[in-house]
Amino acid sequence: MTSPAEAPLDCPLCPRLVAYRRDNDAAHPDWFNAPVPSFGDANAHLLIVGLAPGVKGANRTGRPFTGDFAGDLLYGTLLEFGLAEGTYDARPDDGLELKGAMITNAVRCVPPQNKPTPAEAKNCLGFLKSRIAALPDLRAILALGRIAHDAVLSAQGIRKASATFGHGATHELPGGVTLFDSYHCSRYNTNTRRLTPEMFQSVFRAIKSCLEN
Ligand code: URA
Repeated sequence: MTSPAEAPLDCPLCPRLVAYRRDNDAAHPDWFNAPVPSFGDANAHLLIVGLAPGVKGANRTGRPFTGDFAGDLLYGTLLEFGLAEGTYDARPDDGLELKGAMITNAVRCVPPQNKPTPAEAKNCLGFLKSRIAALPDLRAILALGRIAHDAVLSAQGIRKASATFGHGATHELPGGVTLFDSYHCSRYNTNTRRLTPEMFQSVFRAIKSCLEN
């Protein structure tokens, strides 16, 4: 059966994530506590694929990367490269709009300790597959980290061995879409300088040049 591009708010596919969602809802009934829908331009040329919502960030606010530490660098870079307009203020009602871009997550529900299991990532693949298929003008996908990279390949039915993850690597996917890889813009990666703002900008420069050609 084909999945919709967005998970239903009461998605039952992953028992551990459903239990975590319920615990969070009991402790914080004012939080979003549901699969976080994709955010951005329905005619996006660029789809950015993150890992999963952070518990006090996207899981609280209901918008990918919003309120998460990783969102500061991601939304700041999107604004810098003209892929967003407005001001990012870590709130879903900050008025920020994405221009030609959409953000989604490989796993739509917040996982405990930020770590989805391989089975959970697999359960969520149908949504990613449909999300990609629903973007008629898609030219580029940016995978933030290896789990997102692997999810994109699986969603497209491509063997992992044929496209190895590497920061700055690009891979041609069917349908004229280029997959760009970046280390995830997580707090850990930026604090340890595994990913610097300059390294992230250089990936976006390559994406912009792909979109402009
Ligand atoms: N927030 C998200 O929505 N996704 C990530 O990958 C990290 C933080």
